[in-house]
Amino acid sequence: MQAGSEVTKPVFPENTWYVACTPDEIEGKPLGRVVCGISLVLFKTAEGQVAALEDFCPHRGAPLSLGTVQDGLIVCGYHGMRMNPDGQCAGMVGQQVERFKKGIRSFPAVERHGYVWIWPGERTLADPEKIPDLHWARSPDWAFGGGLFNIRCDYRLLIDNLMDLTHEAYVHSSSIGQPEIEETAPETARSGDCVTVSRFMRDIPPPPFWQDALKGNNIEHDIPCDRWQICRFTPPGSVMIDVGVAHAGKGGLDAPENHRASGIVVDLITPETETSCWYFWGMARNFNVKDGALTDRIRDSQQKIFTEDLEMLESQQRRLLENPGRRLMKLNIDQGGVHARKILDELIVAETDA
Ligand SMILES: [Fe+2]
Repeated sequence: MQAGSEVTKPVFPENTWYVACTPDEIEGKPLGRVVCGISLVLFKTAEGQVAALEDFCPHRGAPLSLGTVQDGLIVCGYHGMRMNPDGQCAGMVGQQVERFKKGIRSFPAVERHGYVWIWPGERTLADPEKIPDLHWARSPDWAFGGGLFNIRCDYRLLIDNLMDLTHEAYVHSSSIGQPEIEETAPETARSGDCVTVSRFMRDIPPPPFWQDALKGNNIEHDIPCDRWQICRFTPPGSVMIDVGVAHAGKGGLDAPENHRASGIVVDLITPETETSCWYFWGMARNFNVKDGALTDRIRDSQQKIFTEDLEMLESQQRRLLENPGRRLMKLNIDQGGVHARKILDELIVAETDA
């Protein structure tokens, strides 16, 4: 947080749940990952619970993530120190380490909805009931495919990006972009700690990504459609976007499945440092859910589309770092991101005051 003698403001709240990884990343091995500036090691205990510790062996400071998991303990890859999931020393061949009571810091960690969530802040406040309910992840009526990017940008730039989809017309012109997006004004609303940006386009040609999705639902793909985008931000880094197209005049969002292709763009964003983040992305859909090949095809298209964002965001971050303190414009299309940043600032101030 400190640059020279100058103290900078924190940019992420700590008393909240963040996605740290997916369960497959810690299957039978430890994972080192930086979350909110903290170097963590994540692993599974003998009982199959998830555990998160400082990635720091108390013996000589080696990263525990370079070690192995044996019988639910993490074994340092340097000299073999064994650590319990609660951060206490569990033993070391030829040494009496039980007298070193201090151990290392552990963090509340929970596996839920296909993700591993960690709480980097005050552990007594960590209530698993506050983990967002991803209803699609526990329903057989939905299919999901996704992935993970590490992006060298402030996590709030990615939130801005997802709360202002006019960029699709430029960044994603060959897949989901179309001129009707920027021609249609969005509506922005804040309710409590949630921000919603909605855009409805009527009687327009479906762009290539959505033509392919309509084909994937085995319905007509080259006729005029109604299209919608409803972006919902909840802190610290969740943006769920209801997206879809339906044959024009068939009820839009509420059109029956034989006239519609729709889903939720899933965006779970975790700060790594102040200028880099982890982006857990994906798409949940509630049509033709048994078609695994369609899930793969949508994931591949989404990966290509989000790679276009990645390049723009990292370049934008470099320019911003070259121009510290420079004021930027705020247009009506930026309202979603502006509200999201305000909510994050309020949470950070409340934590700092407490
Ligand atoms: Fe994008």
